[in-house]
Amino acid sequence: MDGYLANLPEITRLARAYDAQVMVDDCHATGFMGPQGRGTPAHHGVTVDILTGTLGKALGGAIGGYIAAPQPVVDLLRQRARPYLFSNSLPPAVVAAGIESLELVRDSDDLRQRLFENTQYWRNRLTSAGFNLLPGQHPIVPVMLGDAHLAQAMAARLFELGVYVSGFFFPVVPKGQARIRTQMNAALTRDDLDRAAEAFLQAGRDTGAL
Ligand SMILES: Cc1ncc(COP(=O)(O)O)c(C=O)c1O
Repeated sequence: MDGYLANLPEITRLARAYDAQVMVDDCHATGFMGPQGRGTPAHHGVTVDILTGTLGKALGGAIGGYIAAPQPVVDLLRQRARPYLFSNSLPPAVVAAGIESLELVRDSDDLRQRLFENTQYWRNRLTSAGFNLLPGQHPIVPVMLGDAHLAQAMAARLFELGVYVSGFFFPVVPKGQARIRTQMNAALTRDDLDRAAEAFLQAGRDTGAL
């Protein structure tokens, strides 16, 4: 939600010291963080015990996911993970596309570079327009508005201006921390980003957010 990176070096160090296991839900990093898009542990150069990822975000498949873990954990989840146990398997076409997209992200350093360039550009544009962003380098760029009604008004005005975003507010985020969560994409051009930034400026003025 905040586009922050967990301090995995410290977390894994503590886990080792106390004989604990580390589980990382890496759904917001799979495919674009770290070398070859291998995720946040790879970005930090650490290994973790249980790693979850989704096919539905950067990998583009919109459904499905996975848990990579030691065999006893996998065996337990096969018997006890209710959504897994009581759902149909993924359609083979989705699995095939997921495997192919993993191959693609492995060789897509150019796209990852463009994603992070776009992110920096987008962050700079919004900051210089006067918006309050949560700091960082993550392609999830939350525009903090505080008030839930304001976040919804901004999202509605942006939609009229041709930019589709969602307002996030309590209980999805803590009270008083309503926001619009923007996400960068390697396929966006500078023109796209400029047009979106102009729309944010306009909507910010129209709604009183700026
Ligand atoms: C941090 C995190 N983990 C897991 C998921 C679940 O992903 P999926 O809906 O693809 O199963 C989400 C979905 O938004 C998420 O934000």
